Amino acid sequence: MPGHAQAAIAAYPELGVTGQPLEVWTQWGVNPNIFNPSEKTILFLQNVLTEVLELFPGKFIHVGGDEAIKDEWKASPEVQARIKELGLKDEREMQSYFTHRMDAFLAAKGRRLFGWDEILEGGLAPGATVMSWRGIEGGITAAKAGHDVVMSPTTNAYLDYAQSQDPGELPGIGGNLPLDVVYGFEPVPAALTAEEARHILGAQANIWTEYIASLGHIEYMAFPRLAAMAEVGWTAPGRKNYDDFVARILVHEQRLQSTGVNYRAIKRPPGKA
Ligand code: ACM
Repeated sequence: MPGHAQAAIAAYPELGVTGQPLEVWTQWGVNPNIFNPSEKTILFLQNVLTEVLELFPGKFIHVGGDEAIKDEWKASPEVQARIKELGLKDEREMQSYFTHRMDAFLAAKGRRLFGWDEILEGGLAPGATVMSWRGIEGGITAAKAGHDVVMSPTTNAYLDYAQSQDPGELPGIGGNLPLDVVYGFEPVPAALTAEEARHILGAQANIWTEYIASLGHIEYMAFPRLAAMAEVGWTAPGRKNYDDFVARILVHEQRLQSTGVNYRAIKRPPGKA
């Protein structure tokens, strides 16, 4: 929220900006149908969160916040009037206000809000924890401002990206993220002081499945890159050694093999991705 809202707006058109009925989207990607940031929508989404809190006892609740195209807010006299009424500068501050409301709601229930790094735009909500995906810059900014951060940049942590540029490689969403680049990730940026670095809670890998149609393909994207990510998260940088990691993965492959996991073998026959 407030983007990725088309399915909800299809069911409850009053949550949208235009009032036009929508179908549930059958494609993936980013689309302009966004929640109306009205009090009515905020209340609705807080009620949804109440149900989410019952289902998930964990401290952190991720509200997204990414890919919220503001075209509908820009074009809407109603949203523009709300921006003015709230004394906000622009649509980014409108999203920030919206996220502040979710943050306050979650904080009152003893939980903490997580959002993708777009929630920095227009001002970070006081209790927000940031997941940095468009690089690590958002995470650095958040940590310097005293907010907790999980690093999950596309450059190192998006396991839906292809693993090589070999012609026979199983498709990914694009990109090229070989094993050694995942392994080489350092989630605590040198730009942070020791005090700021304490805000880096860790790293997260993502496998979005737009281009993945089977469990076997997911496993192929995950292994062994997920093992590299585990080492990124758990091993002190000075103790990391890629050659040593590869030697251990060659052994680990036997475990994956015996449990029937469709891993991407490190040593493949020539011409086979
Ligand atoms: C994201 O990949 N949109 C967080």
